[in-house]
Amino acid sequence: FVPPAQESEDGSILAKDINGNLIPASQILAEPPGTRALVAGLAGEPTYLTVREDGTLHPWGIVDNCTHLGCTFPWNPNENQFQCPCHGSRYDPEGRVVRGPAPLPLKLVRVAVETDFIRISPWTEIDPRTGQKPWWV
Ligand code: FES
Repeated sequence: FVPPAQESEDGSILAKDINGNLIPASQILAEPPGTRALVAGLAGEPTYLTVREDGTLHPWGIVDNCTHLGCTFPWNPNENQFQCPCHGSRYDPEGRVVRGPAPLPLKLVRVAVETDFIRISPWTEIDPRTGQKPWWV
């Protein structure tokens, strides 16, 4: 068995764990709905993937990089928020700012399952949360 190409011309990559090993989609989808799984995404950036209620992966990944000053932050399942420990910014489950000082929603990437791997590619279309061109493009 040969896994799909790990990097392709469109700038996409396959999700890996922190040790640099490819992560099978089935491993993440074995987690309960609502799980936010942290993987190494584009340029190795830590990226949250969401397991949806129907047991599939959400097509948006959320980059774990606070739009205030770039801290990484945990998912707080009890409050259903991403909460930045550096200066208290909070984001809703889709990465919209709930509380500052963060000025912008969290960056998105595109997520797709390809055979049993997870392809992550740059999000260049309209940001579905704002209806605007993404701030990171
Ligand atoms: Fe996240 Fe300042 S870096 S709140």
